[in-house]
Amino acid sequence: MSEFTLHGARIVVRAGALADAAALVHECAPARRPVVIADDNVAPLHASPIAAALGAELLTFPAGEASKTRQQWAALTDVLLERQLGRDTVLVAVGGGVCGDLVGFVAATYLRGVPVVQVPTSLVAMIDAAIGGKTGVDTRHGKNLVGAFHQPSLVLVDPLALRTLPAEHRRAGMAEAIKHGVIADEAYFHWIAAHGAALLARELSADVAHRLVLDSIAVKAGVVARDEREGGRRKILNFGHTIGHAVEHLSEYSLLHGEAIAIGMVAEAQLGELAGFTLPGLADDIRELCVALGLPVSIDRAFDAGTILALTRGDKKARDGAAEYALPMRLGEMNDADGRFAMAMDESFVRATIERCR
Ligand SMILES: NC(=O)c1ccc[n+]([C@@H]2O[C@H](COP(=O)([O-])OP(=O)(O)OC[C@H]3O[C@@H](n4cnc5c(N)ncnc54)[C@H](O)[C@@H]3O)[C@@H](O)[C@H]2O)c1
Ligand SMILES: [Zn+2]
Repeated sequence: MSEFTLHGARIVVRAGALADAAALVHECAPARRPVVIADDNVAPLHASPIAAALGAELLTFPAGEASKTRQQWAALTDVLLERQLGRDTVLVAVGGGVCGDLVGFVAATYLRGVPVVQVPTSLVAMIDAAIGGKTGVDTRHGKNLVGAFHQPSLVLVDPLALRTLPAEHRRAGMAEAIKHGVIADEAYFHWIAAHGAALLARELSADVAHRLVLDSIAVKAGVVARDEREGGRRKILNFGHTIGHAVEHLSEYSLLHGEAIAIGMVAEAQLGELAGFTLPGLADDIRELCVALGLPVSIDRAFDAGTILALTRGDKKARDGAAEYALPMRLGEMNDADGRFAMAMDESFVRATIERCR
């Protein structure tokens, strides 16, 4: 078992932990009435046993990003209001990042805020979405534009839940794990490279699943611990995400987020090499590992460079209309850009990089 504390959130990582979820929820949120919320894929697999053990009601919503909306936020909030649940409520979000972000936002706002327990069941949720306290929903203007910081009371991570996760989602989550290796943990990057087959195996072993999740959480929690609200260091987590988000958008979301990030990481490492910040060869190392894990690495020829540039300028991360990039120096170390951890780049470099990554 492994435990962290992050801005008041207790993070427990243990194979088989879901079986003890009820006891841990009671321990972290004593004398509270739990309500379990999950999407309709995860409900029968993992949430229903937790609700039964807690003697709690299980609320469900349709699986998929399309549920991460103000409408779904309102619908769940209305059910809680109809049940006349008070400030002694604790919401237990069991599922992927969609569930965690949505239920986290319901918890952040219900009666001006009730505690939430995050039980992430996808790889993205375990190593990324559930760690750090960001919650929110999408709007037609873009993803994650309405939300709140709301640290969970408890994050309960059972790496064995990954065994039921569809293969494409495990693969997509691997991109964020690779990112964590690149930005802060060289040994972890090499470990992933050495265990590719085991990481993709259908019957994921408990040891491999545990190390995969634990080391990745350690990186994310370590970064967030030093910068809760993205003032500086937290920006290194955006490696691969400037070009990645543009490509994700241009694919009309046919690429999973992690797949777009794989493409974005290779491109941004290449950009760093071109600009002289990044040790030559890093882009190739990242490309090789992504390919080995079945992740895409090339920018579709149909995606016009000018359109990609325009999208990067409109990104949430852009400052004064200029796209910002978090760039690696070498495996495990990011450029600190004089404490800003991200910087604008000459667009001619970005254009050349895009063409090189076709
Ligand atoms: N808050 C943050 O800091 C943060 C960070 C990264 C991503 N996110 C958000 O997370 C979301 C993506 O998360 P995701 O990839 O987990 O998507 P998701 O929640 O849609 O889950 C992916 C799919 O896997 C299914 N699933 C999840 N766990 C399962 C399991 N153990 N067994 C079987 N099926 C399972 C889900 O039902 C869904 O169909 C995005 O909305 C993104 O914006 C948030
Ligand atoms: Zn991401």
